[in-house]
Amino acid sequence: MLILGIETTCDETAVAVVDDRRDIRAHVLLSQLDDHRPYGGVVPEIAARAHLDHLDGLVARAMEEAKISFDDLDAVAASAGPGLIGGVMVGLMTAKALALAAHKPLVAVNHLEAHALTARLTNDVVFPFLLLLVSGGHCQILIVRGVGEYELLGETIDDAVGEAFDKVAKMIGLPYPGGPELEKLLPQANETAAATIDLPRPLVGRKNCDFSFAGLKTATRHWIGGRDLSAQEKADFALAFHHTVSDILLDRLARALQERDVAELKTLVVAGGVAANRFLCARLKTFCDARGLNFVAPPVRLCTDNAAMVAWAGLEKFRLGQIDDLDVAARPRWPLAMEKAS
Ligand code: KG4
Ligand code: ZN
Repeated sequence: MLILGIETTCDETAVAVVDDRRDIRAHVLLSQLDDHRPYGGVVPEIAARAHLDHLDGLVARAMEEAKISFDDLDAVAASAGPGLIGGVMVGLMTAKALALAAHKPLVAVNHLEAHALTARLTNDVVFPFLLLLVSGGHCQILIVRGVGEYELLGETIDDAVGEAFDKVAKMIGLPYPGGPELEKLLPQANETAAATIDLPRPLVGRKNCDFSFAGLKTATRHWIGGRDLSAQEKADFALAFHHTVSDILLDRLARALQERDVAELKTLVVAGGVAANRFLCARLKTFCDARGLNFVAPPVRLCTDNAAMVAWAGLEKFRLGQIDDLDVAARPRWPLAMEKAS
């Protein structure tokens, strides 16, 4: 079984082909980072135009890399949301055109579900599993019971965790995207100096599993206090920030496990762009080891946005007969689970 996947929800234009033996037969990706960097964030209009300019060429390259023709495909999948609507429409319309021209079924994939199911492409993860979804737009703890079956345990009440990384990084003078830039400073950081930087841990200890990161921006602004930071101070701050964010995420996960049957959930999967963070993954691994849980983090190139995850989610849906009509709509918002379990 061969599925073509297309990803255009944010600032990566990506196309991939995967098969049902979990081989990634083609994986092409064009990052628009340089286009957006001068603005300190993603500009939707620029993103949509860049997807439009490059997507057809990337589809051709992926087909070449996989050494297949459109006839060989079983289905065409695309992220149909959530995301920046202009970009989503470019990817979904291209997928519809390919599906129509090649007489193949279309699978509209939820971008968050694609992140969530990546662990099943890279590792032998069975349902149900506990999922920490941490990206530029989302921060959620979910139980994944099956394809399309998600139970929301907790989510951010303000900023997403990737957004918090990006915003504080910008405040200390680092380029976009801030997550990887802050992580790069860690080897230079001084643990003792970092421990003196006092950052809040909102909602830690609370009874539910929700997150809050907005207070970190204000605390960062106070800590900077309008001065010019030295390279050493920036590195020490980066370490303090990593500790704080990891403490918050771990506290909320511990809470989720208190509420739920740990015996039922044998694996914790981390997914989304922030899952590329090695510091966080090391903390999560220790957390899981102490509780007898398996820990799975996909390789970095499959944590941040890519099309292999979309093709794989498309394959999982296609296998279950979940295909879509050609009039399926692009969705700026598309939650994985509508309501928090009581
Ligand atoms: O999943 P993703 O590629 O796009 C969205 O769907 O949002 O996530 C992008 C986010 C950005 O906020 C970026 O700063 C963050 O993931 N990120 C990281 C790292 N790599 C990417 N955050 C922390 N550490 C990293 N190494
Ligand atoms: Zn994403």
